[in-house]
Amino acid sequence: MSEDVTTQPDMYTTAGKLADLKNRYHEAVTASGEAAIEKQHKRGKKTARERIEQLLDHGSFVEIDEFVRHRTHAFGMEKSRPYGDAVVTGTGTIHGRQVAVYAQDFTIFGGSLGEVAGEKIIKVMDLALKTGVPIIGMLDSGGARIQEGVVALGKYGEIFRRNTAASGVIPQISIIMGPAAGGAVYSPALTDFVIMVDKTSQMFVTGPDVIKTVTGEDVGMEELGGALTHNSISGVSHYLASDEDDALDYARALLSFLPQNNLAELPEYDSTPELEITDADRKLNTLIPDSPNQPYDVHTVIEHLVDDGEFLETQPLYAPNIVVGFARIEGRSVGIVANQPNSMAGTLNIEAGEKASRFVRFCDAFSIPILTLVDVPGYLPGTDQEWTGVIRRGAKLLYAYAEATVPLVTVILRKAYGGAYIVMGSKQLGADINLAWPTAEIAVMGGQGAVNILYRGEIKRAEEAGEDVAAVRTKLANEYTYNVASPFLAAERGELDGVIEPAATRVSVIKALRALKTKRASLPPKKHGNIPL
Ligand code: HXC
Repeated sequence: MSEDVTTQPDMYTTAGKLADLKNRYHEAVTASGEAAIEKQHKRGKKTARERIEQLLDHGSFVEIDEFVRHRTHAFGMEKSRPYGDAVVTGTGTIHGRQVAVYAQDFTIFGGSLGEVAGEKIIKVMDLALKTGVPIIGMLDSGGARIQEGVVALGKYGEIFRRNTAASGVIPQISIIMGPAAGGAVYSPALTDFVIMVDKTSQMFVTGPDVIKTVTGEDVGMEELGGALTHNSISGVSHYLASDEDDALDYARALLSFLPQNNLAELPEYDSTPELEITDADRKLNTLIPDSPNQPYDVHTVIEHLVDDGEFLETQPLYAPNIVVGFARIEGRSVGIVANQPNSMAGTLNIEAGEKASRFVRFCDAFSIPILTLVDVPGYLPGTDQEWTGVIRRGAKLLYAYAEATVPLVTVILRKAYGGAYIVMGSKQLGADINLAWPTAEIAVMGGQGAVNILYRGEIKRAEEAGEDVAAVRTKLANEYTYNVASPFLAAERGELDGVIEPAATRVSVIKALRALKTKRASLPPKKHGNIPL
């Protein structure tokens, strides 16, 4: 539609009306102007239309509301009324499946959200919700349109309400590709996944200038709310994209694991896994070190168990002591939650608990089975944790697992101590199939801690007798671990469904998920629960 658009069509003829449509359409898609596009490109940023084009399957985009224009007169705004205003919206497909999208257009009024830009977003959100398809927002905006005041704020309120209504019904993904300032950050915060582009995206409630004025604190935009900050420190973001291409690729990959909505089937891919133990499986038999203090990388286990070793991790830089993400087993999506012995020995702290609980709740909302891999020495001790609410905030993970009705399969690889044993998808909390490796240690506390309490007298006696106290302690601790923390004690009581050799895990998990495919479970009717927040 980019032929000659200079001639004035004869509006009294059909040909003229068609030509007029072409002209107007051309005006809509070129509203930004060359200079603004060039400025956007110079910053390493694509335009809204380029982003949509790249996110969606080629040629699938169907735009809506391209002829919407603002109706504001304040501050001389009536002199500039570009078609489409500051956001491009519509539908299309990703991997052949329908989605809804919006992309804020920074080249028009800084992507700011006024009345009509807000209405466009609201309309496409409503469409996504009533058709049961994921919605992906690409944010690049100066926030509420200053010229439009309360009207702009009101539209944000309506967007937040829809984000909340859509939560747990359709997957919502936010890709931050420029500024997201002020209360505008709360729409992405209400969505399921936030992807940020390194160096070119920022999120903050109050910017550096306001912070300086109010608190005197000096902080740059990037340090305050850049992609690295929100991926590694605040946990607001789920993926640090190296550039826009990476961000869009990640969003597409993420969607490949998700159903269209909470009532839809999971996507299925062809997969015919070997159902006998293979040589590759046997490598797991040598993974767990003899020394309980020696770490290993739990990614090795995850990648071994899932189809093609493909694991899409979310929030890899935040609370790395717990690993969460998506994979496929027999071609169907699973959510994986795993303690990471390589980071803080896999202990649970507030951040890890919150990261995992949000993930478990997402999987549960969208009927994605959860595989939990346990190697956790306990909760991280200390005043910092206690005073920042490990009781209240740590309870979220218990709540998330206990209310989950999706198939839950848990494998205890090594340590499973104390409350951390219970919280990590234990049988008693509602998991369906619980297995353990012979290397599992399940008890109230670890051997060393238990020996200090149970064998205080014996250790004192050894000290007084001039014996090698460390050796005595280790011997007692090993005995305790063998006798009390043995997985066979748990298996004897049916608190485990089986003890398996590590090599058998892949096949056992496949069979467990097969057995649970038809699981139906429900909670007592209620308006909603009251998860400790
Ligand atoms: C109207 C805006 C705008 C806004 C930017 N522009 N933000 N217009 N309302 N909120 C316009 C600019 O005037 C400019 O227009 C064009 O967009 C590009 O902006 P620049 O400032 O030239 O770009 P840059 O230097 O890259 O700076 C980007 C920016 C800055 C950091 C986003 O524009 C900025 O600080 N904007 C204000 C951010 C803000 O405080 N927003 C309100 C947040 S509160 P011209 O015509 O010159 O090209 C909020 C409340 C939401 O959003 C509440 C929800 C409950």
